[in-house]
Amino acid sequence: MATFPATRLRRLRRTAPLRSLVRETRLELDDFVFPLFVGPSTQANDALPALGRWSVDDVAREVEGLVEAGIGAVILFGIPDAKDEEGSGAWDEDGVVQRALRGLRANFPALVLLTDVCLCEYTSHGHCGVIRDGEVANDASLELLARTAVSHAEAGADAVCPSDMMDGRIGAIREALDDAGFDATPIVAYSAKYASAFYGPFREAAESAPAFGDRRGYQMDPANVREALRECELDLAEGADVLMVKPALPNLDVIRAVRERFDAPLAAYNVSGEYAMVKAAAAAGWLDERAAALESLTAIKRAGADIVISYWTKELAGWIE
Ligand code: PBG
Repeated sequence: MATFPATRLRRLRRTAPLRSLVRETRLELDDFVFPLFVGPSTQANDALPALGRWSVDDVAREVEGLVEAGIGAVILFGIPDAKDEEGSGAWDEDGVVQRALRGLRANFPALVLLTDVCLCEYTSHGHCGVIRDGEVANDASLELLARTAVSHAEAGADAVCPSDMMDGRIGAIREALDDAGFDATPIVAYSAKYASAFYGPFREAAESAPAFGDRRGYQMDPANVREALRECELDLAEGADVLMVKPALPNLDVIRAVRERFDAPLAAYNVSGEYAMVKAAAAAGWLDERAAALESLTAIKRAGADIVISYWTKELAGWIE
């Protein structure tokens, strides 16, 4: 192998066109998904604009702008009018997500409509499943999650994305979708979803913080990677079409490990805390938001993600046009 001075790696870094020619990873808007929060009323979030929420009526206007900017996919989250013990707003035919889906489906036939399937925004206690004897009950939650997924498919979702981390939910949702005639609706499984401190801004925006305890009894321990591969393996066996790792930046090694082990499409969720950290530092004048965001998103793609869910998607549309 030739070494210095025959080899000088700086030669290909000398000019922007040379760097571009040998660049290994590029960001394409087609790979990005923009999260949208739908609630009883529109509420701007000045510090974290992508974490604002839209009424069912206003969300169509926002989506029109997104589609014009070239964004091809969104994932919907719902903040219901009222919460209860079981989270019944999650599968309500007239729930916020279901109504938003019907409106958007009719007006934007080419837009990919994904939905987050979980109970935490809908339960009075804020957990992702129902409570039995003081614990988040796995098996009793499955039927409710499956019902929620079917209601999203009925309202026009292109794919459903279960984020609850109950065991067996992919199989339960697959079976329920098939039974309801939605055998063509894919499941994007939040397979390796860690119990993360980086969900803080989301929980505030979606009003989904648990009223007691935490989510460590169902979301994964951030210390584990082999377990993430087992989660992915089980989800694929139960019928997952796309795998997901979340959060993205603290888990680039997990994204890489999943990419190398499995051939299914892989999504990564660049979560609210990852977005908020950069926004806050930029607001303080400590770093350049655009450069930091582009570097973060490029790293997530380089690690092996095919699809990236990011709060920067809207800004990205302007940055890479
Ligand atoms: C619902 C859900 C959460 C996120 C996505 N789906 C919150 C949580 O699990 O507490 C977090 C997304 C983000 O932080 O951007 N279970």
